[in-house]
Amino acid sequence: MSEMRVVSGIQPTGDLHLGNLLGAILRWVRMQDEAECLFFLADLHALTADVDPSKLHSSIREMAAALIASGIDPAKSTFFRQSAVPAHSELSWILQGTARIGWLNRMTQFKEKSGKNREGASVGLFTYPVLQAADILLYQATHVPVGEDQKQHIELTRDIAIKFNTDFDVDLFVPPDPYIGGGTAARVMSLRDGRSKMSKTDPSDMSRINLTDSDEAIAQKIRKAKTDPEPLPDNAEALDGRPEAKNLVGIYAAVTGESVEQVLTRFSGQGFGDFKPALGDALIALIAPIRGRLDELRRDPAELDRLLGAGAASAADLGSPVLEKARAAVGLAA
Ligand code: TYM
Repeated sequence: MSEMRVVSGIQPTGDLHLGNLLGAILRWVRMQDEAECLFFLADLHALTADVDPSKLHSSIREMAAALIASGIDPAKSTFFRQSAVPAHSELSWILQGTARIGWLNRMTQFKEKSGKNREGASVGLFTYPVLQAADILLYQATHVPVGEDQKQHIELTRDIAIKFNTDFDVDLFVPPDPYIGGGTAARVMSLRDGRSKMSKTDPSDMSRINLTDSDEAIAQKIRKAKTDPEPLPDNAEALDGRPEAKNLVGIYAAVTGESVEQVLTRFSGQGFGDFKPALGDALIALIAPIRGRLDELRRDPAELDRLLGAGAASAADLGSPVLEKARAAVGLAA
């Protein structure tokens, strides 16, 4: 095993949005040059919510194209669909014997997603983090680059790894570290409400910026983004209590690669009438080239399928010795 192995995934539902891009994908892209990386489309996780089969099928290719357009390079990283490597499901089942109901009961994502309809939620939504643990432990990942919202799932993965190793007296699973921040925005918030995160499930499309948005749409969404009437302050602490302002400044910093302080030095004293056009331009400069590459990649679905197939074969090779050891540890194999 190399010193640093990076594993992360994204659900292929809806369009890739700015939260995904700034919270995770741009860091994935950078890590490709620093470590051995595996990135996958979490299509099995997508089954835990209501599924429209034809939509899921087309979203898988669309998300694959969006990630490659954003800079994921299948020549550098192992890039594949989770469902194409059955070891994820098999290890997930083995780990369900290790994970505790009490641990899963504490998962805030399950509480948020099931809402008031807990009894009507799918069992898969409840055990979702165990499959996520299998995704990570199968490859003995050391680092898992994710947005803030996934931190609890990575901590659960650590607990599962440690309990399995202890219960079965093996030194098999590597407790991974979540890798959050590092020059990117850990938590990108909705453009309509600075207290809720930007997400693909928000009913208002004005709340998020999608990679497929036109330049005009991006500029308009930023123009209409919720703000407050105060000018921008000269220090980051003064943004506390101003969630919308904090979010827009954080986005600007992540997009341009500057620190929040640097951004504030430039814009302090100015109102949003000056800041928003600059932010719109920075976003268009980031997204327009990605959108152009996405348009091209979409034209060759057979090539996307070929790339994903090759990635799945490599991932299966990497994961199979670990799965075999897990099977042996629990007594399913000699
Ligand atoms: P998903 O598909 O919801 O999101 C993919 C990545 O984008 C990050 N993200 C955000 N970051 C900052 N601000 C936001 N508003 C924002 N919205 C999304 C997420 O934190 C994530 O890193 N369960 C995972 C997928 C998964 C996975 C895994 C991740 C399955 N198996 C194994 C890591 C390792 C999910 O639903 O992400």
